[in-house]
Amino acid sequence: MTKIFITRDIPDAGLKMLKKHKSIKLSIYQKDKKIPRKELLTHVKGVDIILSILTDKIDAQVMDAAGPQLKMIANYAVGFNNIDIEAAKKRGIIVTNAPGPEITESVAEHAVAFIFGLAHRILETDKFNRAGKYTGWGPKLLLGTDVTGKTLGIIGTGNIGNALARRLHDGFDIKILYNDIKRSPNLEKKYGAKFRTKDQLLKESDFVSLHVPLLPGTVHLIGARELKMMKKTAFLINTSRGPVVDEAALTKALTNGEIAGAGLDVYENEPKINKTLLKLQNTILTPHTASATVETRQAMSRTAATNILAFLSNKQIPNKI
Ligand code: DGY
Repeated sequence: MTKIFITRDIPDAGLKMLKKHKSIKLSIYQKDKKIPRKELLTHVKGVDIILSILTDKIDAQVMDAAGPQLKMIANYAVGFNNIDIEAAKKRGIIVTNAPGPEITESVAEHAVAFIFGLAHRILETDKFNRAGKYTGWGPKLLLGTDVTGKTLGIIGTGNIGNALARRLHDGFDIKILYNDIKRSPNLEKKYGAKFRTKDQLLKESDFVSLHVPLLPGTVHLIGARELKMMKKTAFLINTSRGPVVDEAALTKALTNGEIAGAGLDVYENEPKINKTLLKLQNTILTPHTASATVETRQAMSRTAATNILAFLSNKQIPNKI
């Protein structure tokens, strides 16, 4: 019998796949909230596989609390910064994540929504209306900015960065600049994207969208210095991980008009959000919901289950880290 502990109830597609196997015993933390650390340490005891979500810190203590039979941690997320990969390696524990075409599209769509929402001031104008301030059409009323023909700087050109480039290049004639640790011939050939150093990209872009993983080298990739390099009319989009941006510095830059606005789905100390940031009009702030579509969350569930079933049947594991 393989014991699997799932740290939070997830959409059922993958659960159904796992439940078909009589040799699998599933237990799921049923309260619809993040499992408290103490309970996590208790629940993992004696399990073979942990199916974790991105808010669970899966470190050496959790692995040791589970015991030496723990063989796999299947993360229900693309990002895996919540897992101590080195500690897992030392213990021979396999770690997987849950990427796929659905989450790629969903997060890219969210970034697109931020770009248009900010450029056309959708939230501000909606609030304006609801506050009863609309007294008649005006030639200078609540002017935004066009997206078509502008320059988008993409930092991190994995699947999501690529999907965003495709949408905006094909649909809106956007010029693409990009920065990554390596050049992307595909992006250059297909979308005419131009490689830039990070600093140069920040100086030239009208929209800067972040798509890097959270690693020691990407913490505060965007801080006060970088924000000062951006155009006063530019917007910053972050759908990657909160600590990639120095939130205090960003709040200051937005307050002082150093940049025009920001669309954020992730925060430095999630779920806490800088109080001043919450009051600013030139921002769109979503609660880490870029991947929160029915299709994507079901696909992530299937991916996590597929990883587990591949491991249990000694097949090649699709998303092994
Ligand atoms: C992920 O999968 O890493 C995303 O942040 C989930 O929204």
